[in-house]
Amino acid sequence: MKKVLIIGATSAIAEATARLFAKRGDRLFLLARDEEKLSVVARDLKVRGAEDVLTGAFDAVDMEAHGPMLDAAVKGLDGIDIVLVAHGTLPDQSACEASAEETLLAMNINTMSVISLLTHLGNIFENQGSGSIAVISSVAGDRGRLSNYVYGAAKGAVSIFLQGLRHRLHKAGVHVLTIKPGFVDTPMTAEFPKGPLWAQPDQIGRSIFTALEKKKLVIYAPGFWALIMLIIRLVPNWIFHKTKL
Ligand SMILES: NC(=O)c1ccc[n+]([C@@H]2O[C@H](COP(=O)([O-])OP(=O)(O)OC[C@H]3O[C@@H](n4cnc5c(N)ncnc54)[C@H](OP(=O)(O)O)[C@@H]3O)[C@@H](O)[C@H]2O)c1
Repeated sequence: MKKVLIIGATSAIAEATARLFAKRGDRLFLLARDEEKLSVVARDLKVRGAEDVLTGAFDAVDMEAHGPMLDAAVKGLDGIDIVLVAHGTLPDQSACEASAEETLLAMNINTMSVISLLTHLGNIFENQGSGSIAVISSVAGDRGRLSNYVYGAAKGAVSIFLQGLRHRLHKAGVHVLTIKPGFVDTPMTAEFPKGPLWAQPDQIGRSIFTALEKKKLVIYAPGFWALIMLIIRLVPNWIFHKTKL
C-alpha cells in the first residue's frame, strides 16, 4: 500500500493512472477543481480497491493556497510516498499570439502553478528523505514549434525545472519522474482529428505506473515518441523553418 497524492485528479490521464493505484490498494488523496466530477472519480476508485480516498479543492492559479493545501493533504494521508501532478490546459496558439494576457494565463496554469507546487513538494519530500514526485510535462516542450510554442514553452520550462529538482533531491533519496506524453485522446484534445500516433489514457496510465515502480527518470509515452522527438530536435533550422509543424 502506498500513500498517493494526485493533483488535477479529474484529468483523464490522472484518472487512468489512479485506477492502477486503486487496484494495488493504495491510500489516495485527490485534488481537483471540479468538485462534482471529483466525487464521481473518488467513488469509482474506492470501488476499484483503494484503501481510502480523500479529496480536496484545488485551483491551480490560487497559488497562495498551495502550501496549506499540500500540508493538509500530506497530513490527511499520514505521510506521502508518491505525488502525481497532472493538471494543465492546451491554449489556443493563435489566441495567445494575439494577446499577451492569454499567453500569460497559459503560462500561469501550465508553468507557474506547477513550479509553485514543486517548490513546496520539493521541501516536503526532501525533509522526509524518500518518495517519488511525478509530473506530466509533454513532448511539446522538447522544441519550440510555430503550431504550439506557448504550450511548448510552458511544458519545456517544467521539464527543465524537474531536471534541476531531480539533481537537487538525488542525494536526499527522492525520485523525480518527468512524463512526456505525445498525442493522447482526452477531453483536452477532443476537437483534434485522431490518427495512428494517438494513444488512449489507459496506455499512458500504465506507462506512468510502471515508470514509478522502476524509478525511471524521464519517459516518453508511448515510447516511440522518444525517437520522433530526437529527430525533431535534430532537424537543422534551415529545413525546420520550411515546415509547418
Ligand atoms: N492529451 C494530450 O494529448 C496530452 C499530451 C501531452 C501532455 N498532456 C498533459 O497531460 C496532463 C493531463 O491532461 P489530459 O490530457 O488528461 O487532459 P484533461 O482530461 O482535459 O485534464 C486536464 C485537467 O487539468 C485540470 N485543470 C485545468 N485548469 C485547471 C486549473 N486552473 N486548476 C485546477 N485544475 C485545472 C482540469 O480540471 P477541470 O476538469 O476542472 O477542467 C482537468 O482535470 C496535462 O498536464 C496535459 O498538458 C496531455
